Amino acid sequence: MIELTDVRKVFPARRGAAEVTAVDGVSLSVAAGEFAGVVGPSGSGKSTLARLVNLLERPTSGRVVVDGQVLTDLDDDGVRKARRTVGMVFQHFNLLDSRTAAGNVEHPLELAGMGRAERRARVADLLDLVGLADRHGSRPGQLSGGQKQRVAIARALAARPKVLLCDEATSALDPASTAGVLDLLRQVRAELGLTVLLITHEMAVVRAVCDSAVLLDRGKVVDGGPLAEVLTRPHSPLAAQLLPAPAVTDTRGDLVRITVTESAPEGRVLRTLAGELGLDVEIVGGSVETVAGRRFGRLLLAVTGDDGRLDPALQRLRDGGSLVERALPGDEPVPVDLTEPEPDPAGQAPAFARLLDSPDVQR
Ligand SMILES: Nc1ncnc2c1ncn2[C@@H]1O[C@H](COP(=O)(O)OP(=O)(O)O)[C@@H](O)[C@H]1O
Ligand SMILES: [Mg+2]
Repeated sequence: MIELTDVRKVFPARRGAAEVTAVDGVSLSVAAGEFAGVVGPSGSGKSTLARLVNLLERPTSGRVVVDGQVLTDLDDDGVRKARRTVGMVFQHFNLLDSRTAAGNVEHPLELAGMGRAERRARVADLLDLVGLADRHGSRPGQLSGGQKQRVAIARALAARPKVLLCDEATSALDPASTAGVLDLLRQVRAELGLTVLLITHEMAVVRAVCDSAVLLDRGKVVDGGPLAEVLTRPHSPLAAQLLPAPAVTDTRGDLVRITVTESAPEGRVLRTLAGELGLDVEIVGGSVETVAGRRFGRLLLAVTGDDGRLDPALQRLRDGGSLVERALPGDEPVPVDLTEPEPDPAGQAPAFARLLDSPDVQR
């Protein structure tokens, strides 16, 4: 449904600032109906990538195909039409304060020239879909953050898009509203058969709703794939974000890091090592999470016993489908801090833009 091939976006140098390669040769494929995540530290190019998918930004080079249409081959008029297949929601909702919830959802339909009666019926359906039928007359100022994002989702769905782009759509919400909006996204994906590209710096969001994800770093995809595959991939930096491995702080004994899955759960691992092979096993650390609807965990085990038995024991676990690694201090990718900087309190241009506008730099 979304096919990016070697896409680059270079923002040219301007007013003394060097040029920025925001997206640097990204190839990405998202199947119809897939819920795909894009994660990465602040400034890694996530928002630019989203804007390249609906051609709000034209790539410097590379190809963008959405729903079989080569957007990069279209002129501006063609792009404007094609953009209706892609809805978008943002962190700060971008609702019109002067309009009611219904008025905001109606806005894109007016722009598309839909007749009044048809518009009203469509708006009622959309507000019903997002669970806000009773708030149609409320203005954004009277709605909670979660409700505002529901209105924004209804508006994004108004033109019946096939793809929904969500750029940090839950980042301004409290945990309960985040859970509600994620449930709604899951529901509309299932009911409308949408493809969702979800940009976030919150790994809990990826764990909750995504089937697949890519990790961006300085404009490049450094890791990615279906989450179930990523989590069982040795030394995966994306897996380290999704399910951080317990830190190795103790080098006594043989430390073993085991990724458990539904088909090779921790009970079986412990039974094999302790019960069948008679090794002495201690759990040093670990966690188990639900990712992409399935259970995954990482355990750090200290195993002692007959030295000669350990390696064959680990091999036996690997043969049973577990990812098993001998753990040494510092051998695992350290999750990077993905926390976005606080949004600008004044809601103005980012600090770097203000810097560019200062008289000192303008000369
Ligand atoms: N319109 C623009 N002009 C110049 N530089 C930009 C523009 N938009 C983004 N950038 C730069 O591109 C890089 C990636 O930005 P962005 O896509 O917003 O990253 P993210 O969403 O991951 O935080 C940053 O260095 C940012 O400053
Ligand atoms: Mg961003």
